Amino acid sequence: MTPMSAAYPIIDHTFDAVVVGAGGSGLRATMGISQAGLKTACITKVFPTRSHTVAAQGGIAAALGNMGDDAWQWHAYDTVKGSDWLGDQDAIEYLCREAPKAVYELEHFGVPFSRTEEGKIYQRAFGGMTTKYGEGPPAQRTCAAADRTGHAMLHALYQQSLKNKTDFFIEYFAIDLIMDDEGQCRGVIAICMEDGSIHRFQSHAVVLATGGYGRAFFSATSAHTCTGDGGGMVLRAGLALQDMEFVQFHPTGVYGAGVLITEGARGEGGYLTNSKGERFMERYAPSAKDLASRDVVSRSMAQEIREGRGVGDEGDHMHLHLDHLDPAILAERLPGISESAKIFAGVDVRKEPIPVVPTVHYNMGGIPTNYHGEVVNPTSGDPDRVVPGLFAVGEAACVSVHGANRLGSNSLIDLVVFGRATAFRVAETVKANTNHKPLPKNSTEMALGRLDHFRNANGGSPTPEVRLHMQKTMQANCGVFRTEEVLQEGKVKMDEVYARMDDLHVSDRSLIWNSDLIETLELDNLIGQAMVTMHCAENRHESRGAHMHEDYPKRNDDEWMKHTVTRFTDGKVSIDYRPVHDYTLSDEFEYVKPKERVY
Ligand code: FUM
Repeated sequence: MTPMSAAYPIIDHTFDAVVVGAGGSGLRATMGISQAGLKTACITKVFPTRSHTVAAQGGIAAALGNMGDDAWQWHAYDTVKGSDWLGDQDAIEYLCREAPKAVYELEHFGVPFSRTEEGKIYQRAFGGMTTKYGEGPPAQRTCAAADRTGHAMLHALYQQSLKNKTDFFIEYFAIDLIMDDEGQCRGVIAICMEDGSIHRFQSHAVVLATGGYGRAFFSATSAHTCTGDGGGMVLRAGLALQDMEFVQFHPTGVYGAGVLITEGARGEGGYLTNSKGERFMERYAPSAKDLASRDVVSRSMAQEIREGRGVGDEGDHMHLHLDHLDPAILAERLPGISESAKIFAGVDVRKEPIPVVPTVHYNMGGIPTNYHGEVVNPTSGDPDRVVPGLFAVGEAACVSVHGANRLGSNSLIDLVVFGRATAFRVAETVKANTNHKPLPKNSTEMALGRLDHFRNANGGSPTPEVRLHMQKTMQANCGVFRTEEVLQEGKVKMDEVYARMDDLHVSDRSLIWNSDLIETLELDNLIGQAMVTMHCAENRHESRGAHMHEDYPKRNDDEWMKHTVTRFTDGKVSIDYRPVHDYTLSDEFEYVKPKERVY
């Protein structure tokens, strides 16, 4: 048989390290690795400052104590509790201890944080962030650049990467990993979308910073580019994903449009009401109210809607009020969402409430890693077994610091703390300009075989149709409230969607800006993750964090205090488990014992 590489000429590159993705975590890893003197490439399917981190609004959590007493240990306690005890406490300690350093670095890199009267970094309240191990008042811990924090971070990190001489490959789409027979990652194959040329990147370290897979769902705050490309590559390499059943719904997506209205809006004093004008969160979370953690607020909203107290003609959403706030504060601290509310809901936030509804926002699950960013491929004998040469960071990864539910503003800090940790680890383990071993003979076959297969797909199901079928199924059968019946039906329906992958139709056969082909490769990435998400959700017979299973409404630590580990081979989902790390890194942070989670 003629090898695929004969049909698709290959351009070779060698680097010490390759980062796939140029959002917050990818750029922080990229700049750190480049700064360490390693020859580094960053491959990205969108221009770096258009990566999805640009949409992060409210801020980045770090116990700086600029607006009241704070301690990183309190932050770590809140994160453990927010995770509903599924987070790994060693990684959580690392995250919260390193957070202030990572934020001060950002300040020095040029992030234009909002300021207090004394000129310190401004910090606002966010859901689930408290003081004194949950006993004190809410913490103002979320460092903000107005409501455009992610945007500001991306620009600073991109500039820092350029300053450190990173080679950027912009508008290149990574197709598959190159794995050798010893299970080591040796590089990645990508297509340049502009001219269709195929590129083989040989590298001692590959860092997947490809973001979440929010677009497996119909209504998501995630950009259309959030197609879980790293997770897809990992599944095809026969490696595992972790905790995929935990999907976060953000309480305040704009009704109908899905666009994010930051939790910072409630942090600045905004509140939710139902059709009776009641501030219903007082009933569900008497202490934290509108600033309870996201899973709690989203479920409370869904419950109000179910019980007939939703607003609007169809009674299917809620109101978010900012109309009582000082217009000067709105202009200074929430200018972005004031504009989004006008554009996407036709609402002047100074005068009217914003129509909002819980909307898919974040994947707690992803590629399992340790707190150095090294990907692990758990086996029964070794749950922490490292995959040599492969790293993952950001939403693509599952460290796991967020466990079953992430606290708002812990995402941006996850990006930079673990992007930085990964850069340290790569710099420790890779020596600059080390020779590369010869690649396996078939290093391009899988990637090019898939590319060619989809490029010539001639069935009866256009890609957008299959994608919509998947998105609607995930939204309907894997939502805020889950039952055995709905999840079982979801598995059957997802099998039907998956079967349509054999009947795909791609209409454009060219290689030049073939968005039909790229969207098909993205769908192939999404669908594996959608399949494992549905199966893992059906499999977990308890309720924990974002996974609310109505037939098993309680958390069950005896049977389910464990990470789900899943693989997807030949269209079949397999499920296994891995222990939660119930230890910390030092005696500065004491293990938080499980208890009931109330806000
Ligand atoms: O609400 C927000 O600003 C989102 C923040 C986050 O997801 O961390």
